[in-house]
Amino acid sequence: MSINIKLLYIFLITTVISCKTKTPFTYQLQKSAIADQAMVVTAHPLASEIGLKILKKGGNAVDAAIAVQYALAVVLPVAGNIGGGGFMVVRMSDGITNTLDFREKAPSAASRDMYLDANKDVIPRLSIDGHLAPGVPGSVAGMQAAFERYSKLKDFQVLIDPAIALARDGFAVTEKQANGLNRNREAFIKFNTTTPAFVKDTEWKAGDLLVQPALANTLTRIRDHGAAGFYEGATADMIVAEMKAGNGIISLEDLKNYEAVWREPLVSDYKDYKVISMPPPSSGGLALSQLLKMVEPYPLRKYGFQSAESIHLMAEAERRVYADRATYLGDGDFVPVPIRSLLDKAYLKTRMADFDPNRANDSELIGAGLVTPVESEETTHFCVVDAAGNAVSLTTTLNGPYGSRTVVSGAGFILNNEMDDFSAKPGTPNMYGLIGNEANAIEPGKRMLSSMTPTIVTKDNEVFMLVGTPGGSTIITSVFQTILNVIEFDKSLPEAVSLGRFHHQWKPDLIYLDELVQLSPSVKKNLIEKGHNLKQRSNFGRVEAIMKRADGRWEGAADVRGDDDARGL
Ligand code: DON
Repeated sequence: MSINIKLLYIFLITTVISCKTKTPFTYQLQKSAIADQAMVVTAHPLASEIGLKILKKGGNAVDAAIAVQYALAVVLPVAGNIGGGGFMVVRMSDGITNTLDFREKAPSAASRDMYLDANKDVIPRLSIDGHLAPGVPGSVAGMQAAFERYSKLKDFQVLIDPAIALARDGFAVTEKQANGLNRNREAFIKFNTTTPAFVKDTEWKAGDLLVQPALANTLTRIRDHGAAGFYEGATADMIVAEMKAGNGIISLEDLKNYEAVWREPLVSDYKDYKVISMPPPSSGGLALSQLLKMVEPYPLRKYGFQSAESIHLMAEAERRVYADRATYLGDGDFVPVPIRSLLDKAYLKTRMADFDPNRANDSELIGAGLVTPVESEETTHFCVVDAAGNAVSLTTTLNGPYGSRTVVSGAGFILNNEMDDFSAKPGTPNMYGLIGNEANAIEPGKRMLSSMTPTIVTKDNEVFMLVGTPGGSTIITSVFQTILNVIEFDKSLPEAVSLGRFHHQWKPDLIYLDELVQLSPSVKKNLIEKGHNLKQRSNFGRVEAIMKRADGRWEGAADVRGDDDARGL
């Protein structure tokens, strides 16, 4: 080799090495995809990949969703889970729709004032951190119910094996994940009796392998025994031992009695579209339907995307809907939720009667509407459509990032802190600033009110769009905006999903703006002149969506705010 070639060779080698050492590890994320047959959009590329593999093996959208849920329980510990719960909206290719409620339930020893001190004041963080924060987990029962009802593959092992392998062999964490794990290191130490896999001696960095052998064993028990591998036997014993170690209250009976519930979807119309979403115990479907109905009579398209007129109108609708939510919504199995009244056209028209296009209303004066009762910050969303046209929109959560940060010793999974979604004390805001009332007070066995809004929109009896997101109280308004971005503001799906968002939740009386919102100074000025208070804040969720394009192909879009990833077939 001549000296020059040798030098070139050395130069190339060192460049490659230095690039390798300088460039932090990344996955190749696909933020959008277009495909003929099928689409999977999730919060992690490994989970999207697994969903796609199941579809290629002949599984349907529900099979893929189950595999994705278990994969996320491993590769997205911040929100993916077996120790949490969620909601699934499904529309099968024959047009039949259904929803599955696998929301956590208050343990039987829970009581209305369990988070209050002797003066009846809320004890800070008792419903958020550690052993008293979790509700009885629902995810494993949910996946079992979904499998039994809709699986095409009928082989549960095939669906859960990829997750077991990822837990056993480990996977490389992303930069965002490394940061999240480092931020929560102290909490993981504080709220656990044994050090979990999420704590390392040194700082996490992108590319480090997260290996979760205890979780692999738990998943293996679920593979071998179904839901009983979680709610009974060794796993249940470990959960109860963990509870005893930290004064928690989930019992063996609570675990054994947990059941996921199929519920009639909440269906409403917006113009030519049908919106299929989650009924209580989520407020999501109801609130989304109210919002869409309230803005339907107004010329949003003419107002334009994020103009002062459209933001004002949408924020005023949101103010009223969140006031209703605080007053009337709770677990319909425990309290009468006046769904029909709240969706009544005349009622919604009256609610907007005092809307003034030039002035913001005052939340102190806007309480909940008067209905006549008729009888009767971490979550993750994913969407799957398969080649037959079956569609699944699923949101699942531990509630806050890494839930209660309590990991079941020996079982390797994180318990949720969903009890904070109850109203610990009427009128006192929870971690999302949401206020609740009697309807959402704690009762044994009751499900805490949720904002999760997994949604499927159809047009002319065909699936048009699947959408959902995490984001606590902002979930509902993010789904609302994503749908309108497409239908009214002619945004492409990737734009609709990733553009800046805003949010009003009645109290506090503010329009929150996320970091990606780009309002012109004149729009801001106009809103302030109308009487709105604007405030910047982060954590507006990460929307995942799939849409049927005009040419009949599927388009998937994953929010730029996270490690989210869309893959098609
Ligand atoms: O069910 C709910 O509404 C909440 N537990 C969701 C929490 C959430 O989205 C956090 N994510 N950022």
